[in-house]
Parts: sequence; structure tokens; C-alpha cells
Amino acid sequence: MQARAGLELMTSWSVICCSWLLTSLYIRFNEQYVPHDPVMSGCLPSNPWITGDTMYWTMNAPTVTAPTKLRVERWSFGFSELIGDPLGRVQLLEFLKKEFSAENLSFWEACEELRYGEQGRIAEIVDSIYQQFLAPGATRWVNIDSKTMERTLEGIKTPHRYVMDDAQMHIYMLMKKDSYPRFIKSDLYKNLLAEAIIPPETKRRVFPFMRKPRHASPSPALQQLPPGDSEGRAEPEQPEGGT
Ligand SMILES: *[C@@H]1O[C@H](CO)[C@@H](O)[C@H](O)[C@H]1NC(C)=O
Repeated sequence: MQARAGLELMTSWSVICCSWLLTSLYIRFNEQYVPHDPVMSGCLPSNPWITGDTMYWTMNAPTVTAPTKLRVERWSFGFSELIGDPLGRVQLLEFLKKEFSAENLSFWEACEELRYGEQGRIAEIVDSIYQQFLAPGATRWVNIDSKTMERTLEGIKTPHRYVMDDAQMHIYMLMKKDSYPRFIKSDLYKNLLAEAIIPPETKRRVFPFMRKPRHASPSPALQQLPPGDSEGRAEPEQPEGGT
């Protein structure tokens, strides 16, 4: 009986701990991402889904010369955010070049090309990756552990689009653990953040009969909260015209 009660107590404790953990993870995720959600927080210069002004999309195109502050900020959330953004990769490559480790990122990009590339070119791309990055004495040789290398060399005898997966993951983890933290702390990143643009809000009303364009509220990036003031968030909007 005692053992049973003990087991039940342990079970309920683990349920409580688990839900506490999930809740705090959820809250952390929200604190990070809600300011980046156009629906939850509005977006600048204006919300294209509401105003019909497509400037927002133009400013956030995959490659632009001047990224927005929200976008650059997002790169600091995690390595996947940085490497998933074409513009983030351009900056990471700049940084890695200075450290003479740009091969890592070039290899990762070549593997992406293989993964999403044309079926007919797979053998050719695999061969080019091998010649450039993996062959003994390759000009852009990347350092992969011997086990992964062995498996990859075995795999490329019958090339397919996922044959570089292990090697790509290995290099991804190297960059994530080593290069990424240094990138985020670098002057290069700090300058990008300082120079990033905060688009001014466009005050165009497509529907003059509406009192104000909904969700065209300024982005939280505009709110310069004094340090320590965490209560400066906007009040949630009251639902209009209840039945
Ligand atoms: C790849 O990244 C690791 C970790 O940052 C580094 O030690 C290594 O020198 C890099 N290799 C190349 C070839 O860039």
C-alpha cells in the first residue's frame, strides 16, 4: 500500500513538474516571439493583409540591403533563426571569413542545394561536394569526425539527396556550438543591430469609414522601455461590437 501511495505521489509530482516546465517554456517562447507576430503585435510600416500596402513584404524580402531591427534581433534567438535566413547567412559568412572558417558554412549550403536540388543533378552535386570539401587535400576541406566521414564515403557510392545528412548535421553542430555564440557577441552583429531599420508607420486609410486601421499599431521594436520596466506592454484590444 505504501509503495503504491508513494508511486502515486511521484506520478502527480512529475505531472506538476512537467506542466510547470511546459508552461514556462511556452511563456518564454511567447515573450520572444509575440513581438514578431504581425497579427498579435501589428507590423511596420503597415499590415499588408489589412491596408493592401505591400511595403512590409518588400522590406522583409529574402534579400534586402537594409534588414529591419525585428529581423536582425531574431537571429539572436537561436542558430536555426540565423542560418534559416538568407540574409543571416550572408552576415555569418562575412564573420566566418574573418575567422578563416567559412568552409563550414559553404559546405552546409552545398548540402542544402543537394537536398532541395534537381533530381537529375544529384550525382553531379554529390561529386562536386566531395571534390571541394571532403576529398583528401580538397581546397575547402572541412573537418568531419572519422566515423561520419566513413559513413558518408560509403553512402556516396550510391548518391541520393540525403547522403550528406550526417556530415551536414556534424558541421551544423560545430557552427552552432562554436561560431554562433561568437557571432552574436561580435562587433559585426552589434553594428548590424544598431544600424537595422525601424520602418516608420504609414498612415494610409484604405477604409475611410473605419475609425482606425486595425493592427496597424506600432511594433514593440519602437517602444524603448526603460530598463527594469517590464509592464510597458500595450493593453490587449477590446473586442469591438459584441453581440
Ligand atoms: C569549422 O568550425 C569549427 C568550429 O568552429 C572550427 O574549429 C573549424 O576550424 C572549422 N573548419 C573549417 C574548415 O572551417
